Amino acid sequence: MYGIELHELQIIKYADGRLEKIFMIKKIAVLTSGGDAPGMNAAVRAVVRTALSKGMEVYGVRRGYVGLLTGDIFQMDERSVTDIIHRGGTILYTARCPEFRTEEGVAKARAKCEELGIEGLVVIGGDGSFRGAADLSAKGMLCIGIPGTIDNDISCTDYTIGFDTAMNTAMELVDKLRDTSQSHDRISVVEVMGRGAGHIAVNTGVACGATDIITQEVPYDLDTIAKVMLEKQSKGKKNFVVVVAEGIGHSQEIAAILQEKTGIEARATILGHVQRGGNPTLRDRVEATRMGNYAVELLEQGVGNRVVALKDNKLVDYDIQEALSMKKPYDEKLHRMAETIAF
Ligand code: ADP
Ligand code: F6P
Repeated sequence: MYGIELHELQIIKYADGRLEKIFMIKKIAVLTSGGDAPGMNAAVRAVVRTALSKGMEVYGVRRGYVGLLTGDIFQMDERSVTDIIHRGGTILYTARCPEFRTEEGVAKARAKCEELGIEGLVVIGGDGSFRGAADLSAKGMLCIGIPGTIDNDISCTDYTIGFDTAMNTAMELVDKLRDTSQSHDRISVVEVMGRGAGHIAVNTGVACGATDIITQEVPYDLDTIAKVMLEKQSKGKKNFVVVVAEGIGHSQEIAAILQEKTGIEARATILGHVQRGGNPTLRDRVEATRMGNYAVELLEQGVGNRVVALKDNKLVDYDIQEALSMKKPYDEKLHRMAETIAF
């Protein structure tokens, strides 16, 4: 645990003689960093309202670590987060900040927090943002990470804020593609987001009844896919939906190869950033709210250098370095199941 010397220690004595130590944190800040995700606003709201309910002062930092370096920091009150729980994007803006990756950048950010008397920081973002939070923690700042990314690629947690909304958006769009694919007897190759992980692709593929799902985690072969498509065509199937994870890339090329090998007309569609926008689903609002609340409870106890995680629907927390070293399994069983019933 770092930075305890900064915080006031209170000892509560209960009637039964029990003693409880509470580190009184008076000023905290919150920022969103890396790629935005629907539900980040709900998390910001929960952080602000929880902190206020505990008598803390709370500050918003604009554009992630950029705002910490430039001092783009403002005090938030209960009305600062009115009417945002249902909105996509992030009212705090987000950014990538190369300067923060340097030793000098982290020292500058630490000095800015000290100057403003900010003792605790909630960082809503992905693995990269958590690496930054670990660096800042090593300089004595109490930092808590909240997993926010549509990719659900943060290993220590079952769920990341934005995943459900992004998948629902992708599902609706693939449904629309299926309509036109069906009318034209075509192959529709559709690329969904997920640079380093196929979680969005496999779930969207299952939800849309895709003929094929192509992700980095499971080996694939276009010759075999084309051959099986022709077999299915001979049994009456006329249109095909192939969901490809962004990390595979080459969707245009995949469509061209499948068209050449099967003789079936193919089109490729890259869904792109539309998957990052839109009103968060109920699940994203609820998980974001729970995580935001939990993050402030950790800070209240003087705990830092932790990442909030959801495990079997329970909130837990991990040391940031430990969280970053974990590996997340891919649901290969779901992938194989989808293949088995796609005929
Ligand atoms: P995400 O948090 O979604 O993974 P990035 O990887 O872009 O997004 O990281 C967001 C920001 O976190 C970066 O712009 C940088 O300021 C900071 N960051 C990323 N990686 C590191 C690192 N290794 N050390 C320190 N800070 C980092
Ligand atoms: O990490 C979320 C994500 O949307 C990835 O799926 C995607 O590869 C990446 O961010 C895109 O980032 P950018 O905002 O830089 O285009």
